[in-house]
Amino acid sequence: MSVQENYDNWEEIFRVRDKEEQQISVTEKVTYYNTNATNYEESMAAGDYSGPRLTASLLHKYLKGRLDAKILDVCGGTGLVIRELRKFASYNNADGLDAAENMMAVAKENGLYNNIFPQYFTLESDVPSNSYDALSSCGAFLPGHLKAEVVTKMCDIVKPGGYVVIVMRKHFTDYDSNLMQLRPLVHKLADTKQMELIEECVTENYVNGHDGLKIVLRKPC
Ligand SMILES: C[S@@+](CC[C@H](N)C(=O)[O-])C[C@H]1O[C@@H](n2cnc3c(N)ncnc32)[C@H](O)[C@@H]1O
Repeated sequence: MSVQENYDNWEEIFRVRDKEEQQISVTEKVTYYNTNATNYEESMAAGDYSGPRLTASLLHKYLKGRLDAKILDVCGGTGLVIRELRKFASYNNADGLDAAENMMAVAKENGLYNNIFPQYFTLESDVPSNSYDALSSCGAFLPGHLKAEVVTKMCDIVKPGGYVVIVMRKHFTDYDSNLMQLRPLVHKLADTKQMELIEECVTENYVNGHDGLKIVLRKPC
């Protein structure tokens, strides 16, 4: 199968304008990632996927070169975010969490994470409160993946002064019934002063010509 055909496969999985896609369960999605882990990066490169670079750039901007900053990369997959981050500086304290063990195995082989947590990320996740300087989530808020409400868990996990960095395809916040709630929830967290909304902006050419959305939240000290 050619790289483009491979990419089209992923596009098919990500295409969500029909109800059918929204009904695919998260376990089915994770099975898909487990099966395709070894060609994931090639497939995404074929779609000019800029998410990991954008996420890394935001992490570096706010962590300001603190190389030992403790980072949790949620839905980290094969570790592309950390690979991009290390192009800025030798950050050395990142952990990865992902439900697809085979994706995490690729990241492990490449030495990208200190600790790997092969688990689903939900409101019940047992990651301790106030334990990370930054939490990243790239390409993870999409139908059948993370639910909008877990943003509150992300905010709980970062330390006071810590950052939550979300990069995703914008489209999903416009029509997916659950993900439409993400931006209002982020604004509610900011309005109630639980978090500061540092950045919320649309970026062109996130993947395959689609717009991306970048959100950065900071927990007040
Ligand atoms: C599109 S990939 C993104 C991977 C990586 N962040 C990147 O940008 O290359 C989505 C990843 O999210 C993981 N995933 C989906 N839902 C999850 C959940 N509820 N908990 C943990 N991982 C999940 C999948 O296994 C997959 O590795």
